[in-house]
Amino acid sequence: MCGIIGYCGPRIAAPILVEGLKRLEYRGYDSAGIAVAQEGRLNVVKRAGKISNLRSHVPPEMPGIIGIGHTRWATHGEVTDGNAHPHTDRGGKVAIVHNGIIENYQSLKDRLESEGVTFVSETDSEVIAHLIASFYQGDLEQAVKETVGLLKGTYGIVAMHADEPDRLVGARNGSPLVLGVGEDEMFLASDVTAIIAHTRQVIYLEDGEVVSVSHRDYRTTDLRNNHIEKQIDHIGWELEEIEKAGFTHFMEKEIHEQPESIRRATKGRIDLEYATGHLGGLNLTNRELLDINRVKILAAGTSYHAGLVAAYVLEALARIPTTAELASELRYRNPIVERNSLYFAISQSGETADTLYAMREVQRKGGRVLGICNVVGSTIARESDGGVYIHSGPEIAVASTKAFTSQLTAFYLFALIMGRMRDMSHEQGLRFAQDLDSVPGHIETILGTTGKIQDLAKRYARFDNFLFLGRGINYPVALEAALKLKEVSYIHAEGYSAAEIKHGPIALINEETPSFFIVPDDGLRGKVINNMKEVKARQGPVIALAVEGDDEVASIADDTLFVPHTSELMYPFLMTVPTQLFAYYCALERECNVDQPRNLAKSVTVE
Ligand code: F6R
Repeated sequence: MCGIIGYCGPRIAAPILVEGLKRLEYRGYDSAGIAVAQEGRLNVVKRAGKISNLRSHVPPEMPGIIGIGHTRWATHGEVTDGNAHPHTDRGGKVAIVHNGIIENYQSLKDRLESEGVTFVSETDSEVIAHLIASFYQGDLEQAVKETVGLLKGTYGIVAMHADEPDRLVGARNGSPLVLGVGEDEMFLASDVTAIIAHTRQVIYLEDGEVVSVSHRDYRTTDLRNNHIEKQIDHIGWELEEIEKAGFTHFMEKEIHEQPESIRRATKGRIDLEYATGHLGGLNLTNRELLDINRVKILAAGTSYHAGLVAAYVLEALARIPTTAELASELRYRNPIVERNSLYFAISQSGETADTLYAMREVQRKGGRVLGICNVVGSTIARESDGGVYIHSGPEIAVASTKAFTSQLTAFYLFALIMGRMRDMSHEQGLRFAQDLDSVPGHIETILGTTGKIQDLAKRYARFDNFLFLGRGINYPVALEAALKLKEVSYIHAEGYSAAEIKHGPIALINEETPSFFIVPDDGLRGKVINNMKEVKARQGPVIALAVEGDDEVASIADDTLFVPHTSELMYPFLMTVPTQLFAYYCALERECNVDQPRNLAKSVTVE
């Protein structure tokens, strides 16, 4: 989704801004721009399309040591140069970049137009520049505060004024904004990846906060000018982690990182002596955990699919009724929040608006929500009542892969803790912990078979429709496999419980609709085999993802991929990885933009 960068310091700003925008590319965008101040004037360059297009229009010697930049993901108004940010006021003195949506922009625009202001874009954001200009009396910070006092909706804003050549002002409400504190220079950004090359010292702004920045210092206040003391956090990861490290795409790299990312998610969190898990951030005593009699998981997209698997595991291990629900739906159906229910918000980015608002709604009703997040310091991580970081490292490809398996890992550990407090014996707990520990090794084995998966993708990428079918704990894996294929290769794909096809989807089966069956050696294998035969009987091409040595499945399917044998609950990890690779290679075959699929954004900060 939209990205923001601001720079204030002794260096020439334009290259820093463009490089920061390049690092924000992964979030998804359709246009980009920068504004730089120099000798009482603003120079603005903005273009629809790629950062490379913007870069080619930025003059090589563009002067100015203070500036702001933006990558836009269109919400109001088409993808045009004029709708790209930064936006300026009519005097050309104020420039702003904005993430989020201003819900009352139309009434503000009407008012400004009646005062003679002419709008030059179709965006909601432009009102901000005009309002700041209208309030400006030599103090940008004050003008920004008066402006945001009028705004309804969500925003992360950075503003500058040509007459204040050492001042950036940032304000946040619902869209992330972080201050990077460098040596004699300051940065503002929507995402730390934009500034990690320059500083690791960051301050996360909260909703309702305003930061006023010069190259030497910063001041954080609320809208009533009360000073707010902020803590500086240190970013723990390295620049290399947001680079491709020899892989062609981030998606490929991140799929291959999974053995390591899962190991990181379990590191120090398995207690072999007591055959249980250890998750320090839950902020719940064992007695409080024992009182929980229902678990509800809120999430979106891939994280929701992780939640569906998690619900299955928690019920199986701890016998606690658990459901996963789309956060976007939960929020608007007046959820019933019970005293002994525990909620989880699962989110890679920790910024997904649907999940964040659902979490706040549950908290407002008195519910306790734990976060399972990847991005340290993200809004969900900070606002939740405790939780677990999955430590996947930055996930740059828009399609989520390694975060999914690490989300599972975190939840499996929670299920182990809860299971050991209830039904599971020491021996069962130990076996589960050992099985979880063996998952990364199995994934390494699967990653050794990428040639076969690529070959399969070469032959199947021409189809326009796919069904992914699984049962039990692997039904959400089928949903996730279908999501992955459609989002990166634009092949229409549906995930179903294999048992469901006879209730409707079987009508789709013909020679042109392949079915991809997930067939572990669990209690439902026989049933899934019957479903495979039903598809074969109707001339549907069948791909099977089965367990090494399963000749029966291989003899029915047209093509079979194998994973190593493991215990029943661990198959979601092993079955997911080949489907990620299959989606990746299909996207390559179809020459799609794998890391930045059309219309998608990495972190969806609008509803
Ligand atoms: C799919 C994908 C999305 C996200 C969803 C939630 O590959 O990445 O479906 O899973 O937008 O994002 P987070 O986990 O950041 O809340």
